Parts: sequence; C-alpha cells; structure tokens
Amino acid sequence: MASLPLSFCLLPDFFTKPPHSPPRQSSVSCNAKDGGKLDRRNLLIGIGGFYGGANLVSSPSLAAPISAPDLSKCTTGTDLNTNQPLDVNCCPPPSEKITDYKMPPVTTLRFRPAAHLASKEYIAKYEKAVELMKALPDDDPRNFIQQANVHCAYCNLTYPQTGDSALKLQVHNSWLFYPWHRWYLYFYERILGKLIDDPTFGLPFWNWDNPDGMVILEMFVKNGSPLSDARRNPAHLPPVVADLNYSAQNSSDPSPDPSQIIRNNLNEMYLEMVRNAVKLEDFYGAKYVIGTEPDPGAGTRGSHTALHVWVGEPTTTGEDMGNFYSAGRDSIFFSHHANIDRLWSVWRGLRGEKPKEFTEPDWLNANFLFYDENKNLVRVKVKDTLENEKMGYTFQKVHNPWLTKRPIARTKKSKVATTSPLPSVAETVIPVKLDKVVKVLVDRPKKSRSKQDKEKEEELLVIEGIEVDTAKFPEELLDKAEYAGCYSQVPHKNSTKVKSRIRLALTELLEDLEVEDDDKILVSLVPKAGGEDISIGGIKIIYASE
Ligand code: C2O
Repeated sequence: MASLPLSFCLLPDFFTKPPHSPPRQSSVSCNAKDGGKLDRRNLLIGIGGFYGGANLVSSPSLAAPISAPDLSKCTTGTDLNTNQPLDVNCCPPPSEKITDYKMPPVTTLRFRPAAHLASKEYIAKYEKAVELMKALPDDDPRNFIQQANVHCAYCNLTYPQTGDSALKLQVHNSWLFYPWHRWYLYFYERILGKLIDDPTFGLPFWNWDNPDGMVILEMFVKNGSPLSDARRNPAHLPPVVADLNYSAQNSSDPSPDPSQIIRNNLNEMYLEMVRNAVKLEDFYGAKYVIGTEPDPGAGTRGSHTALHVWVGEPTTTGEDMGNFYSAGRDSIFFSHHANIDRLWSVWRGLRGEKPKEFTEPDWLNANFLFYDENKNLVRVKVKDTLENEKMGYTFQKVHNPWLTKRPIARTKKSKVATTSPLPSVAETVIPVKLDKVVKVLVDRPKKSRSKQDKEKEEELLVIEGIEVDTAKFPEELLDKAEYAGCYSQVPHKNSTKVKSRIRLALTELLEDLEVEDDDKILVSLVPKAGGEDISIGGIKIIYASE
C-alpha cells in the first residue's frame, strides 16, 4: 500500500480571502512515520492560488458563457485583501459603440523576447513606449493607469455577470484565466507598438522558470525608468532569487540557499506543467459560467500567485503586484504574464500537433470587452486565443529546463506494512477536523492499469473541503519526488452547495514509486498549526478522461 502523507503549502492571506468570508489559511503537513513503521515517501500537496470559493448559486440549466459586461453597470469594486470597497474607481471610460473584434491579417509576427536576453535598443524602445503610455490623457482608455484598471475591473468584482445580478465577473480561478489574460496583453502590446509606431513590437517575457531569469531584471529597477515601481518588496530586489513557492508565511525565514530555491522552482514548474497538468481542467482551471462563482479547486498556477506576492507583498512599501486592483500598475506584471502566456503555448506544444481543448461552447464563446490601440471598444472571444501565432505574435525560443526535472523517488517499493487497523474513508467521520493526525485509507478502484488505460484516464486523488491555517512550508522538501504540488483551494465556510476541492494527479507519481499494484493508498493528514480550523469534506480517487 502506498502511503501519502499530505501537506498544504500556504497562501498569502490577501490572495486567498473569499470575498464573502473571513480570511483563513491552513496547513496540513506530512509525517514520515506511519504507525511506527518508517515510510520515507512523504507526498506533499500544497494549496496555492487566488482567493475564491465554489458556490453554485443558480440552476446549471440556466448556464451561459460569461459574456462582455455592460460597462455602464460598473460599480466600485472590492479590495480582495481587505474585503472593503476599493478606494479607487477602476471603471473604464464609456463608449457609444461596441464592435466584434476582427483579428487583423498577420503580416510580420510581433516578437516577444526573453527580458533577460533583450538588447539595449529594445529596452530603450520599450521604455519609450511605456513613457508615452503614461503620458496619455487620464481618460484615454490606453493610458497606463486605465490599462491597469482593466485588470482591476475584471478582477475586483465591479461588473455584474448579467443585468443587475449580485454575482460579479471574476476572470481568475477558472478556465477563463489564460484566455482573458492573453487578450489583455494582446491589446496592451498593440497600444505600446502603436505609440512608438512599431507594428512588430512585442512585450518582453520574464523568464522566471529558467535560472537565468529568476530575478527581478535590471530593466525593472533602473532608477527613473518608467518600468520601475517603488511598491515592491525591497527584500526581493536583485540579486535575490525569485521563489516560485513563496508565500507570505515563510517571508520571515532566514533566506534559504539560492541553489535550493532554484531546484524547488524547477520542480514546481515540472509539476505545474507536466505531472499535474494532464487533464484540461487541471491546467486551465474549472468551468465557470453565468450564475456561478469561480472554483479555485483546479488549475495548477501556484507559481503565478507566488510571484505576485513575492514582488509586491504589502510591506511598508509594497502592494502593486500583491493586490489585484493594483497589479497592472507595475510594468513587471506584463512581463510576468507574458511568461504565463508563453507557458500556455509551451504546454499546448507538449500535447502534440493538434492538442485537445475544451469543446464546450460555454468556454469557446465566453467573451470580453477591451479597448484596442485605436480606442475602439471591441468584443473578443475565448475561441480566438488558442494559437498565439494566429494572433500575430511569437516568443523567443528558450530552453525549458524544468522539462527534465521529473523528481526521483528517494525510496521505492517500500510498501507500508500496516500493523494497526486504519479506518477507510467510509469509516472515518467526514467531514473531519484535523486537530490531530488523521489517517485515511483510500481505495483505488482500479490497480495495475495498462499503459492504454493510463493514457485514456488520469488517476486523481480528490480532496474536498479543506480549510487551512498559517504554517511554514518545509522548503527543503519541495524538490523531492514526494512533493506533489501546490494547489488553489480556499473553501467557503458558509457554502452549503458545491464545495471546492483539489485534485492531485497520481498516475505518474505511483509509477515513480512503483506501487501501482496496491489497491489502497494511505493518506495521512498531519496538522502543523491551526488544526482546529482544518476540515476535510472527503477524499476519493477518480479516473478522468477528458
Ligand atoms: Cu490577473 Cu496575475 O493576475
């Protein structure tokens, strides 16, 4: 039997607060011991991501794709760090007319360079463009702050989903995350290109998944540069290595060895891009349609969140990157997201010539509004975002060092001999509070699966309704085989309907541990702190084809 002690890594509270409930965090950590018998395979699961909770509030039969908001209904949003009304107005200027966007024919591809490889001339050009953008009139929708407000408006709950619905639009924590941000950068880049009259201008991407790019780059910290921003964590300026597993909780730790951070980063990337990104939902995030709230339980974007907070954690000088409404006021945001955008293309590339995508019209037809480079308000759809080259831009080719970082198990085949009888899921009272060590045997409905079976269906451990509290995450474990990944997960305490959940891909993990013939998995949940606040709604194994 394979033993899977679980641990949950933590999120900065300002990114995790559900909009309607108090902040809560938790940690469940693993214990290497099992009933006195040592099993060295600690499997760690982390929780990561933005705030949110799944809360289905209307009948799914009314579902329709998330659609372009009525700009005249834009209201003061919510500061998701404090749950207070925002004190900035991030509603866009009005427009008489909305047109359906027609992608201009692609003649020369715009080129997005890796920021750390960009030439002096290129950087000067980019600085010029941003300077011009900042100099546009305040009410020009292409103005720098107006552009930052686009992110605020779509993230800080300013637009009703439809009509006067109390449910607001939110483009994070769901299958809209990648497509919406792709469109956002698309227009931002075209505006900059237009301002410097260069139709080939492309945004630089911050190549933080490569050791060569794992710092805040010079161009963003140069004194007096339009790309610099005073609201960054001063403890993270170069040459400090960016930490893709960063969370506010471990910020007071003595800095770990930079080479350890690099190893952890590459491991995190492997998990996010390969092992835990097999099913569409686990990469993109879960379905989100009119009448629902985003479910943060799927999608493996811990590195994305970690870097927001690592750059802009609200210290005395920080906030821009560390809060939704202000993130776009730091130019590094656009390079951070240009890298996420690139990683989306890389992930698709790893899936073959014609990678499978969601086929649901609720995804393909979801649509948004943006001002284009000519100040026209245009409507754009998710279905037009799938191929960056069709959208007219390409990325500098760089090596993806995490691709070969499949973690090596420290011990194999050390099956756990359980002496004491352990409760199975059915016998454990669920929901269970983790104020003590909780061990649950989870049945594997299928074992010794064939290669074809594995290709057809991913084996997933699903954990529902987990609540978390502050604790430190053991840095030294992050690059080990047993670390399973960082997940988005923040349950709604008051939710009585759909519970959010996390999913952990098991197929490759169990292969690496050589325990594919076992018919049960032992899951040990060991609270580190705040156990009285942690509860698990359920644990089971499922097999998911697309
Ligand atoms: Cu819209 Cu990185 O957040």
